[in-house]
Amino acid sequence: MNEYDSELVKSILVEKEHSLTKELEQADVIMLNTCAVRENAFNRIYARVGDLKYLRESKKTRVGILGCMAQNIKGDLLKNKNIDFAAGPDNYKDLPKLIAEVMSPGPGLDSITELSKHETYSDVDPQRQDGVNAWIAVMRGCDNFCTFCVVPYTRGRERSRDLDSVVQESRQAVASGKKQVTLLGQNVNSYRSGEHRFSHLMEALAHVEGLERVRFTSPHPKDFPDELLEVIAKHPNLCAQIHLPLQAGDSEVLKRMNRGYTKEEFLETAARVRRWLPDAHISTDIIVGFPGETEEQYEVTKEVMETVRFDSAFIFKYSPRERTLAKRRFPDDVEEKEKTRRIVELNELQKIHTRESLSKFRGLTLPVLIEKEKTPRSEEQCQGRIDQGVVVVMPQDGSLKAGDMVMVKIVDQTSHVLMGDVPVLAVS
Ligand code: 5AD
Ligand code: SF4
Repeated sequence: MNEYDSELVKSILVEKEHSLTKELEQADVIMLNTCAVRENAFNRIYARVGDLKYLRESKKTRVGILGCMAQNIKGDLLKNKNIDFAAGPDNYKDLPKLIAEVMSPGPGLDSITELSKHETYSDVDPQRQDGVNAWIAVMRGCDNFCTFCVVPYTRGRERSRDLDSVVQESRQAVASGKKQVTLLGQNVNSYRSGEHRFSHLMEALAHVEGLERVRFTSPHPKDFPDELLEVIAKHPNLCAQIHLPLQAGDSEVLKRMNRGYTKEEFLETAARVRRWLPDAHISTDIIVGFPGETEEQYEVTKEVMETVRFDSAFIFKYSPRERTLAKRRFPDDVEEKEKTRRIVELNELQKIHTRESLSKFRGLTLPVLIEKEKTPRSEEQCQGRIDQGVVVVMPQDGSLKAGDMVMVKIVDQTSHVLMGDVPVLAVS
């Protein structure tokens, strides 16, 4: 989402005749687009701000903080003398004004962090990154208020973009050479535009000519009606890649997290996804050490992992976030050492499941959309993804171009990546 938001910011600034540079030394203003979801995101930003201090001192470069951290802790940020201004996720259209203020001498406005009930930026044409994928935020904000999560406070209330504007933007993306669209939202499957639900949006996108792949993230497990799974199963360009964030296995912990489902309901949803989409790659997010999580409750998370056998997982240690209910109500009482033990153990378990999941592809010949003409390691290899989103690395003789769809035989695997043979034929 932040990558997409940065594309919006670039467009808003260029529209007002600012020019962009990646060279820090040339910049008058440097902006960092931030995340507030976990503590280590904060720490990284403070470290980056420290790294930029020499430019503030030697060249008077102004430093601004954008996004969720600005929204969440504006006061603390502006006390830091290496930060000049802050703008929240709904205030990017005010950036030209804010920059003008901080560039002019004397005290002036140094922050705008007003949450909006309506802002969706659907009138801003993002300055897209290179590559085959176009991000499109179809909804913003979240009304779920999971007790550990800061997002409802930093990104505000849920609001969706109009279905036609998303379809139109997807057509434009294809016309400009993109092959894939990834729909974004904090709670993407709660999408609603008049009578239209998320399944209707997916159905509409399936018919966009030339759009080879549609992905989406991040959904909530409570919102996977059969209609949605049926639409994905029906259309080959809607990818069988489903993120199903578990967070915790035990129903009592889930209740304190305010997740809106029990262990049994989650297992039923996961089984339904596998029934409709037997080849789907199901990924998840898990938090260990939520306040009050006992050893027995933690063991239930393991049990759910064993039952569902997620194809991949992002596992986090709980970190208390300002303003959330969990921080206000529940003491962070699982010791750091214990959180570490749990995260290490779950990562080990997931490694086994991921290996097993990747091994299912070995020997198969699958359509791969080439994304990078070389890999960070070698010019003689390129990389792409299969429908399920797993990366495939394969030999490159110089003829494979980003955007090509080719058939590749999977011959090997590493911990997270598939290795392919020389492509056998081009699909498109
Ligand atoms: N502590 C740890 N992990 C968190 N996440 C969200 N908030 C917290 C928190 N306070 C994780 C959840 C979510 C992912 C994006 O980040 O697992 O799905
Ligand atoms: Fe946060 Fe996701 Fe829960 Fe919304 S649904 S509060 S974004 S974890």
